[in-house]
Amino acid sequence: MGVIDEVKQRTDIVDVVGQYVTLTKAGRTFRALCPFHSEKHPSFFVYPEQQSWHCFGACNTGGDVFSFIMKKQGIDFGEALRLLAQRAGVSIPSRFEPEAEGKERQRLYQANEAAALYFHNLLLDSSAGEKARSYVIGRGFSPKTIADFQLGFSPNSWEGLKQYLTDRGYSESELLNAGLIIEAETGKTHDRFRNRLMFPIRDARGHVTGFGARALDDSLPKYINSPQTPIFDKSSSLYGINLAMAAIRQQNLAVIAEGYMDVITAHQNGFHNAVASMGTSVTEKQVSTLKRLTKNITLALDADAAGEEAMLRGVSFENTLGAEVKVIILPRGKDPDDVIKEDAKSWQKLVEEALPVVDYKFNVVTSELDLTTAKGKSAAADELLPIIAEIKDTVRQAHYLQKLAHLLKVSEHSIEAAVTRIRPRQGRGRAEEPKQEVATHLHPLLSSPIEEYCLALLLQHPELKDKHEELSPEYFENSENREIFIAWQRSDKIESLKEELEPATHEHLDSLLTRNLLNTKIEQKYAECVLRLREKSLRSLATKIEAVLALEAQSGGRAADLAKLNEQGIEVNIQLGKVFAQKSQRRLEQRGVRK
Ligand code: GTP
Ligand code: MN
Repeated sequence: MGVIDEVKQRTDIVDVVGQYVTLTKAGRTFRALCPFHSEKHPSFFVYPEQQSWHCFGACNTGGDVFSFIMKKQGIDFGEALRLLAQRAGVSIPSRFEPEAEGKERQRLYQANEAAALYFHNLLLDSSAGEKARSYVIGRGFSPKTIADFQLGFSPNSWEGLKQYLTDRGYSESELLNAGLIIEAETGKTHDRFRNRLMFPIRDARGHVTGFGARALDDSLPKYINSPQTPIFDKSSSLYGINLAMAAIRQQNLAVIAEGYMDVITAHQNGFHNAVASMGTSVTEKQVSTLKRLTKNITLALDADAAGEEAMLRGVSFENTLGAEVKVIILPRGKDPDDVIKEDAKSWQKLVEEALPVVDYKFNVVTSELDLTTAKGKSAAADELLPIIAEIKDTVRQAHYLQKLAHLLKVSEHSIEAAVTRIRPRQGRGRAEEPKQEVATHLHPLLSSPIEEYCLALLLQHPELKDKHEELSPEYFENSENREIFIAWQRSDKIESLKEELEPATHEHLDSLLTRNLLNTKIEQKYAECVLRLREKSLRSLATKIEAVLALEAQSGGRAADLAKLNEQGIEVNIQLGKVFAQKSQRRLEQRGVRK
């Protein structure tokens, strides 16, 4: 049995909820004042038989014990699982447990945090920091900016930081591991960063994972960064993400620049949605991080070769994001830092006028070729068709095919024929095998065959993605299934699903992914599944409402509440009626088909 099932089996929702609110037994249910909103008359119920809860008041929502804890404590599924596991005395294997490997990582975060503070204080008021202070002032950074980004100065000494941190209990090997010191050929160790302006790099949770360090003059290398460490991977980090996250969500747009300075200047001028890829071309991992915050990404890269390479990958990012990626074309030789300092308004304009990545590529190609000649046309087609072929969204793809045909003054038909030739071939479906019997358990939360069958269909048939609007997370009463469904909604590829999910759910996910399904009439099966799920969830709600209505009637509950509940009950029954109507409609249709 998986950890999650074990936790469920050893947990009684009545005990758990009872820790937060005073439950009063009422018939086959327990009632309480809702812990999620304030009320005078209790409309919150716990159903021991279903191991679920429901609030019929302002929340008008419910779920299982996991969703209760998640909502009550404001934590995610993984954290709720850990909390309930601890309570139930179930030990979570270390591979699921960030804490185990976490001990070492925690020390590295702490060492980095201490180092950031050490550098910061030296920049603020050491005499050695004088030169660095005038450097940052020369770059126009305000005291608030220096504090927000915790900019620092690493003194020109071999052992300043090493001494400081060993005095605070960090071992030499921990500091090596954190990338803060380096081992020389002689075997002696010394500080990695010396005489540089320091930029602590933080992850989304605010942990210092590494550092960027700029020379204070023209000496080379201009920047050095922390090496790859157990907590730092440059290609998946985004400088400024901790400070930009809220703005990215709020503005529903992330701007990715190249450099530390670009991010800092952007933020200082009120453009808080800027982050930096730190010089490397933008990676799939960085895009995935942002994807949780927004689907709209604008790249602010210079128009040179490096920029172009990233642009080319823009289309694959679009497929990852399921949305358009735009690019800001910077004036030659300038980076965002320069542009914003010169005129913040012109930056705003550049952001607003950013071009979709494919249109940008069209511009580049057309400016370089003579499209009146046959040679120019065929060269343009060679450049652009592979990009267009890569676009997954069929409507957008058609748009660019039209645009290309128009541009080259050739028929759309010939362009479409050309793209079909290079279109990557779709993987073939799995071999058909008989459906496996689904094991059922006695505990109400351990398994829900219909939820799981539906999920397996969705997971194994990406073509159903377009139809998922018919489903909502609410239909999944089992939190584990609900988590998987939500992650599936968010991710475009099955491969990236796991990253979104709490590791303890992976086992369940794998079993759904590998479940044998009969691969015929998938759409029809899916439609039936949706109906059955909706029916199940409505029926369960109807049962809960009935239980409460019976109770209220018995105890002479207040008329207003009764009326409201009655209304809800009627609504649920109307919805149920619709489901039944749809079901019989489907049956009729199928009979028609068979005739
Ligand atoms: P300023 O020249 O001070 O304005 O910095 P910048 O951020 O504009 O630097 P630049 O445009 O030259 O480079 C952009 C980004 O690439 C920097 O912020 C760094 O993250 C990275 N980078 C630049 N030079 C180096 C280098 O020599 N080594 C490494 N590892 N990264 C660099
Ligand atoms: Mn610059």
